[in-house]
This record gives sequence, structure tokens and C-alpha cells, in this order.
Amino acid sequence: MVAVFIFIISWTFVPSSKLMTMNSTGPIGVFDSGYGGLTVLKEIRNRLPQYDYLYLGDNARSPYGNRSFDVVYEYTLEAVKELFSRGCPLIILACNTASAKALRTIQQNDLPLLAPENRVLGVIRPSTEVIGALTKTGHVGVLATEGTVRSESYAIELHKFSPDTRVVQQACPMWVPLIETGSHMTDAGKVFIKADVDTLLRQDPKIDVIVLGCTHYPLIGDYIQSVVPEGIRVIAQGPIVAEKLETYLKAHPELESRCLKNSKTHFLTSENTEVFNRNAQGFLGIEIYSEHVHF
Ligand code: DGL
Repeated sequence: MVAVFIFIISWTFVPSSKLMTMNSTGPIGVFDSGYGGLTVLKEIRNRLPQYDYLYLGDNARSPYGNRSFDVVYEYTLEAVKELFSRGCPLIILACNTASAKALRTIQQNDLPLLAPENRVLGVIRPSTEVIGALTKTGHVGVLATEGTVRSESYAIELHKFSPDTRVVQQACPMWVPLIETGSHMTDAGKVFIKADVDTLLRQDPKIDVIVLGCTHYPLIGDYIQSVVPEGIRVIAQGPIVAEKLETYLKAHPELESRCLKNSKTHFLTSENTEVFNRNAQGFLGIEIYSEHVHF
């Protein structure tokens, strides 16, 4: 009950601007530094196929994981403005790094000026609301980017819902570059991935739940599951975020009514559109004709 209340508060934030059209209707925006947010978009589309979506991958400036707070905030705010300018009443930051480093400032400082009637939501809070209930040992491992690990967001948020849970983190700085370049399933890629998973487990052998705290990681989720001991659950955020989004939309009919429902998805990338189309098609299994956006 308390968790539901806190969730509603956290996904209820604040205002935005006069800059955009008041109470515009449009697609639900989904943003990531690159391809990772597609793992969230896929689950959201499966669960809520009636809505329109506008995906924005800032592939040209990916990865965000090792960048400073200021740079991640600046890039994320640019993306949010772009999606607002295209009519999105609601944006999901389907990127843990952006959720950890930029979301709060955008919600508190920028949204009231930009578009108070719109909303921007992240992926860390909804995930931490449910993760504590999944562990039997009370030991949870988090694999994430350097930025997300340093922010301590997972430990801070998880302890709000499950104060006794022990959280152990491992930064995996090579993983996003491997995935963005399509090298993640090469022999060399697998060596890097396994090394980080092993380092996490060496820190705490009692871990029985591993959270993929970066939206790129479900793309290597099967491989990670195959290299951990039996009994360890590897958890992707996509299905959790999709379920929480459905709950959120039901609780906010005024916002829900502004989300277009033609079952259409459009894609934007700051990189080469042909490369994006090819890779994103591989991840989503649908034809993609992306549009270039310049930052
Ligand atoms: N998908 C982003 C995340 O969830 C990747 C960050 C990056 O670009 O390094 O953190």
C-alpha cells in the first residue's frame, strides 16, 4: 500500500511548460542513449499495444554511462525537449543512467517551465519497488553502467522499499559499447561480459537476484543467465516498467486521454538511420524506418 502510494507520488511529478502546446495529444515518448530503450519499448508495446510511441535513440552520443552528471543532464534535457516538441505528453526515460543523473532535475526544475501538464518518468524507481520481493536470501546484485553505480540510485531506492536487502553493484563499462557496435556476442565480447558477472558474484556469493540495471543488458540477458549458477534469477526491467506504466496510466486519466491510440510507433535516431533501422529491426523484429534528428 505504502509502496503503491510512493510510486504514484514518484511517477506523478510536476509541471512543465508554456513552450509546448498545452494539453497536446501525441505519442508516448521513449528515450535512451541508444538501442537499450528498445528492450523497454518492446515490453511496453506488448502490454499496451493500443498506444502510439515515439522512440528516440541518441546513438550518436552513446554511451552515456561514463559521462559526467552535467553532460548526461544536458543530453537528456535536449531529448526531452525534442520529444515534447513532437507532441509527447508523457516521456519514459528508458535509460538508467539518465534516470539516475538527469530525471530529478528535469522533473523539479525544467518541467515546471517547459510543460507543466506533461510528465517524464524514469525506470529505476519502478524497478526497485518490486525487486526486494524477488530475493529469498536478501542479497541482490546490480549490473549497471559506471554512472548508475556511482549514483547509488539502486541501493538508495531499494532500501526505501526493502531496508534489509543487501545491494552489491558492479559497473560494466564495456557492455554498452559492445552492444552498440554489435560486438556483444563475439568471443571477445563474451569474455568481457563473463568477467564482470564473475566479479559481481565474488563480492557476495549469497546473491540470488541479479538486476540488469541498464536497459541495454537484456540484449545479453540469456548469455548472463547461462553463466551464473543455477538458482540465480536475472531480472530485466522491461516487463516491470510496462506493468507500472499501465498502472500509472489508469491512475492518471487526464494524461492517458492525451496519449494517441493508433498503435503506431515511430523512431528517431541521432546517428545513421540505415544502421539504426538494421540494428533496431534485429532487436524488435519489425520493419523500422527511422528519422534522423540532429543534436
Ligand atoms: N541504456 C542505458 C542505461 O540504461 C545505457 C547507458 C549508456 O549509454 O551507457 O543506463
